[in-house]
Amino acid sequence: MRYEKDLICENIKVDENGRLLFAGHDAESLAKEYGTPVYLMDEDRVRQRCRTYLRALKSAFGDKGKALYASKAASFKRIYEIMKEEGMGIDVVSSGEIFTAIKAGYPLENACFHSNNKTDADISFAMENKVGYFAVDNEEELYAVSEEAKKRGIVQKILLRITPGIDPHTYEAVSTGKVDSKFGNAIETGQAEKITRLALSAKNVDLRGFHCHVGSQVFDSDVYLRAAAVMLRFIADIKEKTGYEASELDLGGGYGVRYVSDQPVIDIAANIAQVGDYIKTECAKLGIEMPCIAFEPGRSIVADAGMTLYTVGSVKRIPGYKNYVSVDGGMTDNVRFAMYGSPYTILPAVGADKERNMICSVVGRCCESGDVIQNNVFLPEDVKRGDVLACLTTGAYHYSMASNYNRIPRPCTVMLSEGSSFVAVKRESLEYLTGLDI
Ligand code: LLP
Repeated sequence: MRYEKDLICENIKVDENGRLLFAGHDAESLAKEYGTPVYLMDEDRVRQRCRTYLRALKSAFGDKGKALYASKAASFKRIYEIMKEEGMGIDVVSSGEIFTAIKAGYPLENACFHSNNKTDADISFAMENKVGYFAVDNEEELYAVSEEAKKRGIVQKILLRITPGIDPHTYEAVSTGKVDSKFGNAIETGQAEKITRLALSAKNVDLRGFHCHVGSQVFDSDVYLRAAAVMLRFIADIKEKTGYEASELDLGGGYGVRYVSDQPVIDIAANIAQVGDYIKTECAKLGIEMPCIAFEPGRSIVADAGMTLYTVGSVKRIPGYKNYVSVDGGMTDNVRFAMYGSPYTILPAVGADKERNMICSVVGRCCESGDVIQNNVFLPEDVKRGDVLACLTTGAYHYSMASNYNRIPRPCTVMLSEGSSFVAVKRESLEYLTGLDI
């Protein structure tokens, strides 16, 4: 098993001594300095990805292009600071994310508040803090938002979440655009038109347009063309029926990233350019003004900027059955294999260029058989306690989905930037774990 094909992102290298480098830093040295498990995040890569989206949207849609970072992928203060500096909008889904953005000094007029069930407290908190847009999911929420706006004597900008009825061919748990989804209002059933009419008659909301999000880890390039086609037709249909012409269309997030070498690299710029050409042609055909077009990438901004380092605790060989390599993290810092069976690439931090002939499952330290990070991993035969292993592509939906199962503290997050490194989120302490216990 050769290692070259496993260097799945340009920020991962192996030097002439077989040492794994991430964003130019020696992985084992980082493990020694910060302890393990540790989440690493290549800040320069995050910025590069933001710029790719911003440039692509500018070139496809001019001033009508907008990029919002879906902060559910990774939410902590430093990320919102970066988004502010890069001029990205943000998608937030809870008071917790809004509060974190506030703490980072992020200008919330550039935020859009999603979620399929905003509580009254969330709605009030978001309005109090002047979140720019609400993506309203359902009728109850429309009334609640309108009521809260009325109480405050304001008019709240909103988008309506529409379900375009598209299957993005990704895994079921992250597929959100199909008619039977828990999110949004289906066009097919007439619910999208109904909620649009309600929003148009509500006094304290300003309906700016529509939003859809078809799914995550999407590779088919035609998915956004299909979504745009359905949404533009809907806009045209509503215009014909009511005279209302939407000025904004948010196509959501979802572009896939590479976790393993047999997954493709998506050319975001080329994809968005294609969507841009398509939208312009369709708008002309349908006789509507091109709306402002937003994309809301999460995973593709942060995923391959991330790496997790672990230390091996035990190597268990069960003759005739299988091999286990246990590490000092697991489903508490990476629940994605347990939840979705997601593939990962795992490499040793030292001897990364060695032959890897031992097939094993890399498992965590939780009291749960399902606590697996990856099956069928190839590692060197001599892997042993104390070795550092790197799990690649862990920047999205890892820290944000981490838990304290078995009262295991969450790892720290270390940012890597321009040759320096610093802790952006501290490692949780045992004191912290009991901090809320009475
Ligand atoms: N916009 C909306 C409204 C969303 O619901 C999502 C993701 C995004 C944007 C960003 O999608 P992305 O670009 O990250 O694919 N926990 C799962 C992913 C759940 C995605 C939820 N919504 C995972 O670990 O794969």
